[in-house]
Amino acid sequence: MRLDKYVSSVTDYSRAEVKRLLKNGSITVNDVSTKNAALQLDTQKDIICLFDEPLSAPAPRYFMLNKPIDTICATEDSMHPTVIDLLDEPNTQQLHIAGRLDKDTTGLVLITDDGQWSHQITSPNKHCIKTYRVELEEAFTETAKKALEEGVLLHNEKKPTRSSTVNIINKYCIELAISEGKYHQVKRMLAAVGNHVKQLHRQQIGHIQLDSSLSLGQYRALTTDEYEKIIK
Ligand code: URA
Repeated sequence: MRLDKYVSSVTDYSRAEVKRLLKNGSITVNDVSTKNAALQLDTQKDIICLFDEPLSAPAPRYFMLNKPIDTICATEDSMHPTVIDLLDEPNTQQLHIAGRLDKDTTGLVLITDDGQWSHQITSPNKHCIKTYRVELEEAFTETAKKALEEGVLLHNEKKPTRSSTVNIINKYCIELAISEGKYHQVKRMLAAVGNHVKQLHRQQIGHIQLDSSLSLGQYRALTTDEYEKIIK
């Protein structure tokens, strides 16, 4: 990576400001002062210092957020607030959402700047299990439970859904655990068995459960134990 890009990515300085710091002789690479912004670094080996202090890449960040209704799972939106707008954190432009929810869905959203980690959640090949609480318009039947668990063919899809797990809470409420993330998947699965989703709330992703102390709109950093659970 270029020296100016690296310094700007691990500090709050812009590329232009880094160029000024280079001109002033404030940056050294392996104890040698340099003015060369385009110098190619080996960031695993080279020791880069700013004002004689070694720079290191910030640790990756992982957050869970309880998404409220009418908030968009996007990094930017001109019409509505996004889940990223709810974070009181520096450099939010580096963060992305690991698995989106619809505008009218509430619950667990994971946000990070670690692309390899979020890939474990979002890649269709990883079959990461997501659990939803689903409030229904019509009474739920045993026939619908069997169909959902075995897999249903969704409108405009060629293959049925992968097998899922249904836990009936009451006539009008179920917990549904799925290992895919097709567009509007839960709503379309319930439509395929003749029902309609009134309210959808994500409770769990992999082994990470939504912290029940977080109200809608609140967030917290994941514990080490929580974020390591995704990789294990
Ligand atoms: N399935 C849906 O239909 N909507 C969501 O927000 C998440 C899963």
